[in-house]
Amino acid sequence: MKKSQIKIVVTSGPTREFMDPIRFISNPSTGRMGYYIARASVNQGYKVSYIVGPVPAAFSKIQGAKNISIVSTEDMLNSVLNELESESVLIMAAAPADYHPEKKSDIKIKKTEMPYIHLVPNPDILKTVKKHIEKNNIKDVTLIGFAAETHEPEKYAMKKLKEKELDMIFMNDLSKPDSGFQVDTNHLTVFRNDGSYTRWKKDTKERLGYKIIEEIETWLEL
Ligand code: CTP
Repeated sequence: MKKSQIKIVVTSGPTREFMDPIRFISNPSTGRMGYYIARASVNQGYKVSYIVGPVPAAFSKIQGAKNISIVSTEDMLNSVLNELESESVLIMAAAPADYHPEKKSDIKIKKTEMPYIHLVPNPDILKTVKKHIEKNNIKDVTLIGFAAETHEPEKYAMKKLKEKELDMIFMNDLSKPDSGFQVDTNHLTVFRNDGSYTRWKKDTKERLGYKIIEEIETWLEL
């Protein structure tokens, strides 16, 4: 693969699953890690699509990238499928909601109506992409995941690497201070699908954005 032909698709932030017009299920992701990965990709000269959920304005747009704002996990999946092409790298830094309420009320649910929220699973974006690229014969797509874990992080990161058939997964140890949601730093370990891994020192998400792109370039021998 030639560096100049590669497109990098980065997802970032949370998704929202509404149960009525004003209430939703989500998580505290702010999109910082994905933002810095996408910005580093633009600065390194790549064509970049930045698919982002509802995040603070500072992390919602990147100059020089194609910025796509989405709300739900289904929206994120559709945008990812639209953006992927041969010779692309998908970096799933987003924290998509895994479930959505089975029914969404068109009007506000009153507090007198004690709601019973039945949740149904959302599609797994990485697994759906894998099937899509095989079915449509889209060549040379590199799949990169993230794993945010509070316990047994190595075990779960390696399980996700295998089950989602990824090239690489970046594990984020949420049990460590200064790591994960709503902070400027991360403790990352990268696991590759050749069985090797590297534990990185704590670093700012801004610097990690560049390190992640370098790591992918080494993997792809660019
Ligand atoms: N991911 C995805 N589709 C989803 C949920 C997550 O593609 N519906 C991606 C994330 O963007 C991340 C990776 O899968 O790159 C792992 O996400 P994570 O939330 O850690 O794991 P889950 O597969 O959701 O499993 P669990 O919540 O049980 O840890």
